[in-house]
Amino acid sequence: MIDVQRARRETPGCEHVTHLNNAGSSLPPQPVLDAVIGHLQLEARAGGYEAHEQNETAIDRFYGAAAELVGASAGEIAFSSSATRAWDMAFYSFPFERGDRILTAVAEYISNFIAYIQVAERAGVEVIPVPSDEYGQVSVESLRRLVDERVKLIAITHVPTNGGLVNPAAEIGAVAREAGIPYLLDACQSVGQLPVDVEEIGCDVLSATGRKYLRGPRGTGFLYVRSSLLDRLEPPFLDMRAADWVEPDRYELRPDAIRFEEWEQAYAAKAGLATAIDYALAWGLDPIWKRVAALGENLRVRLGDIDGVTVRDLGEVRCGIVTFTVDGVEANELKKRLSRERINVTASPPSSTLLDSRARALPDLVRASVHYYNTGEELERLVEAVGNAAPG
Ligand SMILES: Cc1ncc(COP(=O)(O)O)c(C=O)c1O
Repeated sequence: MIDVQRARRETPGCEHVTHLNNAGSSLPPQPVLDAVIGHLQLEARAGGYEAHEQNETAIDRFYGAAAELVGASAGEIAFSSSATRAWDMAFYSFPFERGDRILTAVAEYISNFIAYIQVAERAGVEVIPVPSDEYGQVSVESLRRLVDERVKLIAITHVPTNGGLVNPAAEIGAVAREAGIPYLLDACQSVGQLPVDVEEIGCDVLSATGRKYLRGPRGTGFLYVRSSLLDRLEPPFLDMRAADWVEPDRYELRPDAIRFEEWEQAYAAKAGLATAIDYALAWGLDPIWKRVAALGENLRVRLGDIDGVTVRDLGEVRCGIVTFTVDGVEANELKKRLSRERINVTASPPSSTLLDSRARALPDLVRASVHYYNTGEELERLVEAVGNAAPG
């Protein structure tokens, strides 16, 4: 059980807003603020390099904490400035050739798909979205049928940006393992919200962000790469952190996942992310998931009861992200109105998941995303405000 009152006491933002934009960026807890601000102050007092040396243990805790969070080992973890950059560093490491295929999801994230198109154009790779099943999630049956020797990567978004759907990541992993195909999971919106274990899921690469459900600082993310894949992936950009310059004409890549990092890093933010992960681990991902899923479902039912409101979430398993439309009220307009009442939501445009949006003829969606520190009263405030805006 989550002690919601304690969670709120430890979250300064709860006094100011009803924050239902946790899939955008969560309110950080006080320990995360302390870690970030404390390190910046140390940099100002001692000097940037000197502060790094003095605070190295807390900063490097990031690797152990992230590994514990996803069931990996510390050498399989790389720090990055975002989930997208983490994902890109891994994706662009795969040596695709003409005729290769990438299997992905219909509700795939915009930035991932832009990268697919680029690689398709450059290398002659075919990108195939696996059809969805009757729940709107990746059809594992269709995936199985599409697997053959041409498929060089299965790349799936766990929780899409535009809805509550949780794709069947472990079932997909079982197919990938059986076929011996590398599996890249975009876990940007699931890590911190639900238990994510790379062994249970069977993914070989995973990308995540700090600011969403982990409640870390903006400008942070991480990458997991399975140790058995590490020496087969040469990152697209290298620097003196990723490799050693051993001869005038030769470099040697680091053996661990740090080969995907860059030398210069926001150490205050990295210390903040380490603290955020430890903070999440202390609450426990099972209790967090239980509460987030229950709040999400509660909100879906309440919003669905309002005349003129249509809930748009797909999936057999649905998470804390709730998307909806209100007849006659444009999503950005509703977002503005709610903001005036100090309720934070966001609007999700069709371009964020173009294939899914076109297939379902979706307009801009209102996206309300709950976290464990949200309360029933906060959901009630949203439901009332949406009810006032709805035509019925
Ligand atoms: C599914 C998914 N993947 C990746 C990202 C990108 O994360 P970041 O902004 O940390 O690069 C997002 C952000 O909304 C997302 O929803």
